[in-house]
Amino acid sequence: MSQYDLVVIGSGPGGYVCAIKAAQLGLKTAVIEKRKTHGGTCLNVGCIPSKALLHASEMFEEAGHGFEQLGIKVSKPKLDLETMMKHKQDVIDANVNGVGFLLKKNKIEAIHGTGKILSAGKVEVTAEDGSKSTVEAKNIVIATGSDVMPLPGVEIDEKQIVSSTGALELEKVPGKLVVVGGGVIGLELGSVWGRLGSEVTVVEFMDKILGPMDADVSKTFQRMLKKQGVDFKLSTKVTGVEKKGKGLEVTIEPAKGGDAQTIEADVVLVAIGRKPYTEGLGLEEAGVALDERGRVKTDGHYKTSVDGIYAIGDVIVGPMLAHKAEDEGVALAEMLSGQAGHVNYDVIPGVVYTQPEVASVGKSEEELKSAGVSYKTGKFTFNANGRARAMNKTDGFVKVLADAETDRVLGVHIIGFGAGEMIHEAAVLMEFGGSSEDLGRTCHAHPTMSEAVKEAAMATAGKPIHS
Ligand code: FAD
Ligand code: NAI
Repeated sequence: MSQYDLVVIGSGPGGYVCAIKAAQLGLKTAVIEKRKTHGGTCLNVGCIPSKALLHASEMFEEAGHGFEQLGIKVSKPKLDLETMMKHKQDVIDANVNGVGFLLKKNKIEAIHGTGKILSAGKVEVTAEDGSKSTVEAKNIVIATGSDVMPLPGVEIDEKQIVSSTGALELEKVPGKLVVVGGGVIGLELGSVWGRLGSEVTVVEFMDKILGPMDADVSKTFQRMLKKQGVDFKLSTKVTGVEKKGKGLEVTIEPAKGGDAQTIEADVVLVAIGRKPYTEGLGLEEAGVALDERGRVKTDGHYKTSVDGIYAIGDVIVGPMLAHKAEDEGVALAEMLSGQAGHVNYDVIPGVVYTQPEVASVGKSEEELKSAGVSYKTGKFTFNANGRARAMNKTDGFVKVLADAETDRVLGVHIIGFGAGEMIHEAAVLMEFGGSSEDLGRTCHAHPTMSEAVKEAAMATAGKPIHS
């Protein structure tokens, strides 16, 4: 007889949320985690520590440049990096311990060790001391997440040539920071070190930053970051990084080929994406199929090619986002308990936690154009918003894209202070299939930044009040 109804491998946002939901629904559940603490990439070396440093560095920047215009005179702020890093570590500790507490509270067996699938129903666990045991369960969930994508020929030492993990741990502010990849990690962590004093150069292979982001937003955002001092080399690739004296020499060349050039750096951050983590899981032997990009192949119910083995989160297809992993965890636990679980992949918000923030949900203009959908656009800028003016946060805009015939909202893109909070009213509206008229007729409190969302919705019919 199986020891457990469900065993989850990995306790990141996908795994721990799936386990908690399953336990709440009455399944006898265990989680296997090889890291010392729970919470996965997100809580240990991802979302949470990066947001702690983003916030702290933003406050540092604000105290240095933002207060004066408000009539607050302070002496030039001094950086105490050690204390800033302690703040980050305290935040991590509180969060990972919180997950440990929740697992216990829900009577989930937390097994420390590395899981390897022997066959459907059987997982071998290797503890830190090398001892092995076997866990049996009716169902197995692979929630092993993702790992840093390496840049061929460039060895990450996490001191001078770092991934996001090393970039969250630097002991001093680099004089020159070269970021390889103008994606989410590169721009968030580049912003952190830029605000703390680094000269930041972002080298991006494509001709725009933030790849799939609506081009209008991406262009505006790049302009804003440039004003903040970030230098961009677009349509350019890094082909090598060599140690030279105490520093580094980075070789770059045009993405389409051409003459190479070198730039100097004290630290290089490699942020060119992440890859699904399936190492040592025994998937091949167990017969679990992968797709062409090394992700675990699943059907619409998260089932892999083997009955009784499921997968969720970064290790399967879809955006590598914590909330996507969490929602898949809930949906799968519900399905395994005989309920109807569902994730609406058309309404998964994405936020870049820079200053200003960039947030979007649904389709970009480019996606609508290439799908041949006829749409109308409503745009409203924050410099016409009273609250934004009062707070000196007038950069950016809200853009609402709605179906030209039905008026149904298909995408909302916001660049501005607090965009990551504002996006959710659009997400709720879209989840219920709402129209831009619905959004424009919903009473919004005054004065709030969110009024710009209402006005952008009204602008799809050409009738905003304040512009
Ligand atoms: P993970 O969080 O990667 O967890 C997988 C866990 O499985 C790990 O703890 C790992 O140790 C464990 N594991 C792996 N193999 C085994 C094994 N064989 N046995 C036992 N345990 C195993 N997303 C957002 O939505 N918002 C953000 O702001 C954000 N910021 C980020 C910042 C950075 C710097 C990074 C790197 C990522 C960020 N992400 C963010 C992405 C987010 O971290 C991931 O999408 C999320 O963690 C995926 O969750 P997961 O449960 O699929 O996997
Ligand atoms: P990314 O996929 O967002 O961006 C990588 C960028 O690197 C792309 O623009 C790509 O064109 C570029 N690139 C690839 N090879 C290159 C080369 N050789 N030279 C120059 N540029 C190159 O990946 P990133 O930023 O590493 O983030 C990984 C994942 O983590 C993302 O999928 C994201 O979803 C998640 N994440 C989410 C955050 C959030 O939600 N706020 C924050 C941080 C990470």
